[in-house]
Amino acid sequence: MKVGAAQFTFLCDLLRKRTGVVIDGSKEYLVVARLTPIVRQRKIPSLDTLIDRIRKGIDPTLERDVLSAMMTHETSFFRDKSPFETLRTIVIPELVARRAASRQLTFWSAACSTGQEPYSLAMLLNEHFRGLLETWQVRIIATDFSEAVLARARDGLFTELEAGRGLPPALLQKYFRPLQGKWSISQDCRRLVEFRSLNLNATWPMMPPCDVVLVRNVMIYFDIATRAALVERMRRILRPDGALFLGGAETLIGMDTRYERLAGTGCSYYRPKQR
Ligand SMILES: C[S@@+](CC[C@H](N)C(=O)[O-])C[C@H]1O[C@@H](n2cnc3c(N)ncnc32)[C@H](O)[C@@H]1O
Repeated sequence: MKVGAAQFTFLCDLLRKRTGVVIDGSKEYLVVARLTPIVRQRKIPSLDTLIDRIRKGIDPTLERDVLSAMMTHETSFFRDKSPFETLRTIVIPELVARRAASRQLTFWSAACSTGQEPYSLAMLLNEHFRGLLETWQVRIIATDFSEAVLARARDGLFTELEAGRGLPPALLQKYFRPLQGKWSISQDCRRLVEFRSLNLNATWPMMPPCDVVLVRNVMIYFDIATRAALVERMRRILRPDGALFLGGAETLIGMDTRYERLAGTGCSYYRPKQR
């Protein structure tokens, strides 16, 4: 299947305008590979016809599905390990000490893809802070632009391959049970996570003040101005002593932001600057 140059440009512009995701002009092959399944599934004659339908704006769900299919949803359990170690050994113990009066903790996994990130956090809390879960109000809000990945995240069913990526065998045995040839995550973890649809590049629905925000491996797809605007909006959602975690290839170094960088266990994390 092929895509016309004008259609390709239209799609990339639309993706950037709606979501902030930038696809460079040499990646036509990527768009073809990602959209061909939609063309086949919906029995549309060609890719260009699909794009024309989006241009006419008749079907908003088609537009969303197409934009979502153009994104990268790569993820894994306990991705990069060090942010989770930092949460376990530094950030959560400090927050627990400071929140003794309110007994509330709110985490936000922004751009959660198929759920491995928020479920990793839920396992970490169950493993190391179980007492807290019994007596405190602990929430993990997990959001993404893509309805397709959110549906999979809500199902909480993972293939052998997905479960094999980053999940220690002991945690697989403890927090999953076999179901329909896959691994189903336990109620102990599900009950902590609320999945919601949210476009980081549009107006956000009401978000509560957050103690920890994970916005990992999504800003790499945004341009500098979009990244700067996003971390500034995140700063307003974070409590003053809250923590922001980025992906391994993402940094605020060199950006003029109102965050200070702190050393974690094998990674950095960020806190709103105190004035
Ligand atoms: C590479 S995955 C990262 C998943 C997870 N945070 C991790 O680090 O493993 C990036 C996710 O960002 C989502 N995404 C991209 N642009 C977005 C936007 N504007 N708003 C919300 N989610 C977005 C995609 O749908 C995708 O699931």
